[in-house]
Amino acid sequence: MSDLNILGISGSLRAGSLNTALLRAAQKHAPAGVTISLYEGLADLPHYNGDLDTEENLPAQVRELRAQIQAADGLLIATPEYNYSIPGALKNAIDWASRPSATSSLLHKPVAIMGAAPTNFGTVRAQLALRQVFVWTHSDVVVKPEVMVFRAHERFDEAGNLIDEDTINLVAALLDALAAKIRDAAK
Ligand code: FNR
Repeated sequence: MSDLNILGISGSLRAGSLNTALLRAAQKHAPAGVTISLYEGLADLPHYNGDLDTEENLPAQVRELRAQIQAADGLLIATPEYNYSIPGALKNAIDWASRPSATSSLLHKPVAIMGAAPTNFGTVRAQLALRQVFVWTHSDVVVKPEVMVFRAHERFDEAGNLIDEDTINLVAALLDALAAKIRDAAK
């Protein structure tokens, strides 16, 4: 099978984001035949508005988001936890991507989830919330391994490189599982 193109989406807009750093680590440690590009448009998406969600009124940024998801073989999402859930900006992107529901870019899309936080239980609750969202969108989420990078600030060096071997192996295992899911679906 040809190489797999994965779209990475960080739920954080911060330049120094641990989650974006985790995605960069995934790019670096991706298995052979898997390429990860990063979605850069999160900050520019307008709030979801059904009045804009028409062929004539659809914002260009939304068109681009849907096109990038459609073109990807799978998604890799790194979510922060905000108040026990996912950040509004990430939820907003998913809301846009999920429409129209019968033909959405998320329908049957293979998705892998991970998350990083400096706290002890960081992203456990956010990842559960995200899995729930992907039930309605009928996306095909990787179940295991779960990648909860708690006390994440201790696992990166000052330049933002992931230096914790266990976490590197876990991220690689998640990508293996995502690639296997995509390849199984194509059989
Ligand atoms: C947080 N943080 C946080 N952490 C956590 O483990 N559980 C939580 O419920 C919250 N809630 C929360 C709300 C808001 C509004 C902010 C800004 C932060 C801390 C959060 O895990 C931390 O800031 C991460 O570093 C955010 O991810 P990035 O930006 O580093 O990717």
